[in-house]
Amino acid sequence: MNQDLYIHGLSKTFSQITALHETNLVVRRGKFTTLLGPSGCGKTTLLRLIAGLEIPDTGTIMMGEEILFSAERKKDIPAHLRHFGMVFQDFALWPHMTVFENVAFGLRAGKRGKGFASVRDKELRTVVLEALDMVRLSGMEDRYPHQLSGGQQQRVAFARAVAIRPRLVLFDEPLSALDAVLREEMRIEMLSLVRDLGLTALYVTHDQIEAMSMSDEVVVMKSGHILQTGTPEVIYGCPAHPEVARFIGKSNWLGSERALFRPEHVRWEQEQADQHAFTVEILHVSYVGDRYEIRILAENGEQWTAYHSIRLPIGQQMHIWVSPQHIHQLEA
Ligand SMILES: Nc1ncnc2c1ncn2[C@@H]1O[C@H](COP(=O)(O)OP(=O)(O)O)[C@@H](O)[C@H]1O
Ligand SMILES: [Mg+2]
Repeated sequence: MNQDLYIHGLSKTFSQITALHETNLVVRRGKFTTLLGPSGCGKTTLLRLIAGLEIPDTGTIMMGEEILFSAERKKDIPAHLRHFGMVFQDFALWPHMTVFENVAFGLRAGKRGKGFASVRDKELRTVVLEALDMVRLSGMEDRYPHQLSGGQQQRVAFARAVAIRPRLVLFDEPLSALDAVLREEMRIEMLSLVRDLGLTALYVTHDQIEAMSMSDEVVVMKSGHILQTGTPEVIYGCPAHPEVARFIGKSNWLGSERALFRPEHVRWEQEQADQHAFTVEILHVSYVGDRYEIRILAENGEQWTAYHSIRLPIGQQMHIWVSPQHIHQLEA
């Protein structure tokens, strides 16, 4: 059965602000797709429209052949019947419910949960305990959210979202409330769970590292528009738009924003005859542990970034070389 999600012409305006301009997007079954963009670009709006938590002004949302929303046909399947899981930034757990009850709540509310009448229901109990075991929270089912750490709370939220075996899991910045170390751990843990369960994920973040490291497909957004969709490698290596290049990684521009190269492609000695040579001045040196990040001033007045294994003297004039295949031309 086709379980890809198709979004066509979807838009949303709140009073004066168009949070999402008419947007098309396909989320492939079994893939990890990420909406990436700065705060306010419309990521949450798009996610909430897909979830059925907000009503679009125009467009259609389809899961395979099934119409979930159509402005034209005045069709709108309610959120709890879409059979999607959701994980939010603030975890959104019920504070007065135990861990067990929080996970069971999702099962009772959803389409699949029709048979689950009471907490004592044996099958429900099995499903909840399995979900908690999966996120390594066995034995914590009688605790309340405030008795758990941030990471544990987010794992409860994840268990609740996936216990219903959703056909799509929507994540809205689920890790941004956690500290940096835990965030990286949870990134790996969540991604393995999504992969092991064969889930389809649509993930929202403003963190480019998160997007690049987790996703099969990255959707770069700005001001309510999608700028580019592609694998992390394509988004980084072949940005289609100056804004994409600027938002992801560091870019060294060769004038007028039509061509760029990345810092890791700067050579400090000539290696091949066809390499382009540039005379530069060392402006600033930052030690970042595994290397020095060097800010350089190019002849064209642009400031570029490069890496080196030693601390170069500030003010020094030097030459750098870049291979033609590493210079990416943006299409007009
Ligand atoms: N319920 C709302 N009422 C009014 N404006 C909103 C509402 N939700 C979002 N917006 C506006 O829509 C734009 C996109 O917001 P949002 O989708 O939350 O962006 P993101 O998740 O990328 O930070 C912002 O300008 C925001 O202020
Ligand atoms: Mg948001």
